[in-house]
Amino acid sequence: MGNAHFSRERIRTGVLLVFLWMLGLISLSCAASLSASRQKLQVQKHLNRLNKPAVKTIKSPDGDLIDCIHISHQPAFDHPFLKDHKIQMRPNYHPEGLFDEDKISDTEKPKQRSNPITQLWHMNGKCPQGTIPIRRTKEEDVLRASSVKRYGKKKLRAIPQPRSVDPDLINQSGHQHAIAYVEGDKYYGAKATINVWEPKIQQPNEFSLSQLWILGGSFGEDLNSIEAGWQVSPDLYGDNNTRLFTYWTSDAYQATGCYNLLCSGFIQINSEIAMGASISPVSAYRNSQYDISILVWKDPKEGHWWMQFGNDYVLGYWPSFLFSYLADSASMIEWGGEVVNSEPDGHHTSTQMGSGHFPEEGFGKSSYFRNIRVVDDSNNLKAPKELGTFTEQSNCYDVQTGSNGDWGHYFYYGGPGKNPNCP
Ligand SMILES: *[C@@H]1O[C@H](CO)[C@@H](O)[C@H](O)[C@H]1NC(C)=O
Ligand SMILES: *[C@@H]1O[C@H](CO)[C@@H](O)[C@H](O)[C@H]1NC(C)=O
Repeated sequence: MGNAHFSRERIRTGVLLVFLWMLGLISLSCAASLSASRQKLQVQKHLNRLNKPAVKTIKSPDGDLIDCIHISHQPAFDHPFLKDHKIQMRPNYHPEGLFDEDKISDTEKPKQRSNPITQLWHMNGKCPQGTIPIRRTKEEDVLRASSVKRYGKKKLRAIPQPRSVDPDLINQSGHQHAIAYVEGDKYYGAKATINVWEPKIQQPNEFSLSQLWILGGSFGEDLNSIEAGWQVSPDLYGDNNTRLFTYWTSDAYQATGCYNLLCSGFIQINSEIAMGASISPVSAYRNSQYDISILVWKDPKEGHWWMQFGNDYVLGYWPSFLFSYLADSASMIEWGGEVVNSEPDGHHTSTQMGSGHFPEEGFGKSSYFRNIRVVDDSNNLKAPKELGTFTEQSNCYDVQTGSNGDWGHYFYYGGPGKNPNCP
């Protein structure tokens, strides 16, 4: 009797437990599907913000969709401060001494210089006048990011700090650099011709880039930076192609700024070059070499920072109000490569920087920056006074400067990453 009662109690408790367990499961799956649909909605909203209605769309051979967007509908004008901004269709001033150093003599001239470097999507069409080309962001692009909010933004602490107070910090962040730099003056721009390669990336969350940095302020919370160059970033673009990119921030990569046109800020005026689009062709080891010229300078009249690609393409400008320190001038310029090492426990990634070959190998094998210039306070392009160099682990990626008549100030940089001396 007692036993029967006891077991009935047990059954009742069991039923209750099963019921509670099912209830738990249902609410869990409800919560999961709710948060999944909330994320989907958030992604859609973000895509609608980024992808403006196109006048025309060009399908690039690499799978990109290039939207031709009316110039006054570009993302920059979502910025509250730019609501009444009148687009400047040309800079007031161009730095002096721009073209003479581009006359290259024959000795070390890259063999394919007559072949202009272009963007892959040019094979399939052009954007009409009055529009600008923008690489369309796809749902999967945003889903690869750690969060919708972080899409198109660099991870924190990505800046090479040649004279860091805490060297351990540099190594911890996993970012590795091989750069040349100038500091100790006021700078109003920088220029370089950058050899273009397609470095191998070991892990999809790593990247390899070659760029210049225009820096203002100290390396604190309010660091200002304008950056431009080429990058391979599977995370950002979903493939291993070499792409033209820009970046800006006015608070050390925290809340402000982004890659390319992935937030409002940069105002593009050029209808031929798309930020984030693939560059083609790229250099091959012991074979044809290709390079791109990038010039960033501050217009002395309006104070905006302009960018030029090659000799022909003025891409547009970062309005002065985006910045604090850079609203006046830059305090440091850096040129060089950066990779992310995500290997744990002191192991090194085999992600390549530059060509994946060390500076010692020289032209045709190692990647270079040549005709390095800075813009001074009289709007003149000048050779840098003293080029410093910096690398965290020269056994993994290294840098070597030099100068001669044709290339002016130059350096070779990069390396293979993991190798017997960099385990
Ligand atoms: C990118 O390259 C890596 C190896 O370097 C390869 O494993 C990966 O599949 C490539 N990704 C794409 C999208 O081609
Ligand atoms: C970074 O770590 C490596 C290996 O532990 C070390 O050899 C190198 O000196 C470090 N670099 C800096 C700048 O601290």
